[in-house]
Amino acid sequence: MVCMPEQTRPAAPRSFATAQVQAGFDSGIAENTAIPSIHQSNGFEFRSLAEARDLFALRKDGNIYSRAANPTVLVFERRVAELEGGIAAAGVASGQAAVAVALLALAKQGEHIVAARQLYGGTVDLLQDTFADWGIEVTFVDQDDLAAWRAAVRPTTRALFAESISNPIAQVLDLGAVAAVAKEAGVPLVIDNTVATPYLQRAKDFGADIVVHSATKFLGGHGTSLGGVVVDLGTFDFTAEPERWPQLTQTYPRVPDGSLVERFGETGSPYIALVKTKYVHDLGPSLSAFNAFQLLQGLETLDLRMERHTASALTVARFLETHPAVSRVHHPGLESSPWHAQAQTYLPDGVSSVFAFDLPATGDAEADFRLVEAFISRLQVIRLVANIGDARSLVAHPSSMTHSHMSPTQLAEAHIGPTTVRLSIGLEDARDIVDDLARALDQVPAAQRRGELAESVAR
Ligand SMILES: Cc1ncc(COP(=O)(O)O)c(C=O)c1O
Repeated sequence: MVCMPEQTRPAAPRSFATAQVQAGFDSGIAENTAIPSIHQSNGFEFRSLAEARDLFALRKDGNIYSRAANPTVLVFERRVAELEGGIAAAGVASGQAAVAVALLALAKQGEHIVAARQLYGGTVDLLQDTFADWGIEVTFVDQDDLAAWRAAVRPTTRALFAESISNPIAQVLDLGAVAAVAKEAGVPLVIDNTVATPYLQRAKDFGADIVVHSATKFLGGHGTSLGGVVVDLGTFDFTAEPERWPQLTQTYPRVPDGSLVERFGETGSPYIALVKTKYVHDLGPSLSAFNAFQLLQGLETLDLRMERHTASALTVARFLETHPAVSRVHHPGLESSPWHAQAQTYLPDGVSSVFAFDLPATGDAEADFRLVEAFISRLQVIRLVANIGDARSLVAHPSSMTHSHMSPTQLAEAHIGPTTVRLSIGLEDARDIVDDLARALDQVPAAQRRGELAESVAR
């Protein structure tokens, strides 16, 4: 069964704060609710069999079955699409699903993707294991090495993929430069904008073609609901080299009336139609109406939350940078960061609130683990949770948690050491977060502190 996507073009331009509260919802529905309702219905009743036939054939927009389209999810899709400056979006069950379906709609067996090395661990698992099982090859490159991006491109390459701010080290991608490589290669640049959010960065402004999010994180913002979203920014012309994209430009076998480009090229997004009617429909990672509702609640305060998140994170990063028990802070808002200049260009409204720092490593893996364990066990405000973008401040140990499937080489390439600690700074009072870290850092043995180490070396 083919489910019909409903699509939209964004309304007239409005400011970010207005769009995050209003976009995608027209209150003029029969029930007259002021906020979007939770349409908790698996299916939708057709007025006639003729109407059902038109909907299934994608000749008409409308609701069929909630696996691929649901009215509450549609509001969420329209809202995120507008915030990102895109033309259409597909809401899905998780960020992981968003990355998967976004790329599956571009690359099939025998084709190839170039991806940054500096990615969330789950994405690395997906690309190097599951995509390999399916015959889609992925070359990983250092995201700062433009020559490596260029050299990795092959005739079979169908997408370039990176995070605008990488998890956990908060490397800021030189998005404009990577977008230029994608343009040269004639393939779309797909950006995971989870950590930045459209409030800190509109990837479209720097040349991205498709954006994905784990909406689980800052878009929802309260740690209650998994979700993901794929946004077509409307910048990539799939008809320029139609033979590369037969899934969009040739007859779509699921409907009788030609290709998806012919059906949606003028009025919506052929790409999002493919994501929904093939990949979400076939694999089933649907966003529930209830989760879409929760994510919409979160979106309404995105700008306010991001301002607090990023301001507090910079305060915390500055504190950590001066602390003798911290050997390095990876925060691009700090002048010491190699990505500071890039942050000025790409993130003028605030830098990442997800970042990492290193406790002093000894070279003894077990001792290093115990040091991090003791530090984390002392935290009282910051919670040990495998998540980011929550209202609560969260801590994680990437090498034993989120990135534990990566090899030692991959970890080193992603700058993740045995004592690297990831923080996601929440909405609490920044003073409480700093005090919490200060208390926990007190337990780092004096001999391992920066000043003492330097003195013992000098002696
Ligand atoms: C940058 C990034 N992308 C994607 C994901 C996957 O999202 P989800 O957990 O919603 O599947 C995560 C999860 O941490 C992430 O940090």
